[in-house]
Amino acid sequence: MIHTGRHFLQIPGPTNVPDRVLRAMDRPVIDHRGPEFAELGREVLDGLHAVFQTKGPVIVFPSSGTGAWEAAIVNTLSPGDRVLMFETGHFSSLWKQVAERLGVTVEYVPGNWRRGASPRDAEACLVRDTQHTFKAVMVVHNETSTGAASRIPEIRAAMDRAKHPALLMVDTISSLGSMDYRHDAWGVDVTVGGSQKGLMLPPGLSFNAVSEKALAANRTAKLPRYYWDWPEMLKPNRDGFFPYTPATNLLYGLREALIMLKEEGLPNVFARHARHGEATRAAVRAWGLETLCEEPSEYSNSLTAVVMPEGHDADQLRQVILENFDMSLGTGLSKLARKVFRIGHLGHFNDLTLAGTLCGVEMGLRLAGVPHKDGGVAAAMESLVASQKEQRHTTETRSHGEKQMKNGIVAGHRQ
Ligand SMILES: Cc1ncc(COP(=O)(O)O)c(C=O)c1O
Repeated sequence: MIHTGRHFLQIPGPTNVPDRVLRAMDRPVIDHRGPEFAELGREVLDGLHAVFQTKGPVIVFPSSGTGAWEAAIVNTLSPGDRVLMFETGHFSSLWKQVAERLGVTVEYVPGNWRRGASPRDAEACLVRDTQHTFKAVMVVHNETSTGAASRIPEIRAAMDRAKHPALLMVDTISSLGSMDYRHDAWGVDVTVGGSQKGLMLPPGLSFNAVSEKALAANRTAKLPRYYWDWPEMLKPNRDGFFPYTPATNLLYGLREALIMLKEEGLPNVFARHARHGEATRAAVRAWGLETLCEEPSEYSNSLTAVVMPEGHDADQLRQVILENFDMSLGTGLSKLARKVFRIGHLGHFNDLTLAGTLCGVEMGLRLAGVPHKDGGVAAAMESLVASQKEQRHTTETRSHGEKQMKNGIVAGHRQ
């Protein structure tokens, strides 16, 4: 079948790259040791502080997110160290695998792949560890395989109550730039990020935001490292340079993406994703289907994993949707294969992109003969309109208040 118009890439990353970012990358490669590059390097390294909500350094690697996982481990730990991790889904199990391959011993708190990491379990494990053998607590913030987000501030609070000195390392690969995340305020030591999701870039860049405590751990960490070594990066970064050949054109794209996020304002970016998450879940409820995440306070706002009715195959539905409507949805990963499909609603995305996406899903459910109720798209539209009205009302009230302040009308401000 010949498809016309734009492909709908609605997997939970890589996400659609805005034309502005594509155009920003469409430039000649420059000398990565020259003055023009230094300016680019300084601009992106500075701009990243806002996205991670940190004053500390953010290190950029030319790699996929997996590289930043490895970098977080080899820069802070030594062979035989113990760490605490939580079974939240496919990506937590992969991060565990990376740690084990590198010679780290992982205590893995079991989970049912329908919730985030449990702060209560974290506290219990840390309180029992009176000898402080855990050197790090490692959590996936937004489990892309399940659509469940862990409550990082509550994990931090559990660590503090237990008075445990372990480092806190968090994977934000599918939440950075789409869901609220605060490296400094939440007391995170290493934040792992990737370019291809909320940052609206192609795959190929990954990040480590690092705290003072993580840098101190780096000085005694004995795992071997060269490519991933933080100090090797931080030295040339001071002048906007990198120790080896950087991904120059991706950095052009990053500079533009950071400008776009700043123009919209991070709180607005998060609010937009929250509206789209809510509208998607309204559609799923109206279809009479189930979201995989079973805890409302842990719903992801960047993707929704939908459980297929018994006896129906998620990949067959995805194939029908791809063939008929030219839309890619996320597949079920490892033990969720064929049991769930995932709707990505993050990055360069708006109300009508969501409406189109949900139309494709609803038509696909019909064509594939999957039992469901009509009205999912209508429920999502209802949710979008209600939240638009609410947002407009808040903005109007705020600007009315500001105007009154300016005119000195508000009590206490009268001259
Ligand atoms: C939460 C999470 N962590 C880690 C990864 C691995 O990143 P990459 O595939 O870029 O290596 C992904 C990829 O989707 C992810 O979603």
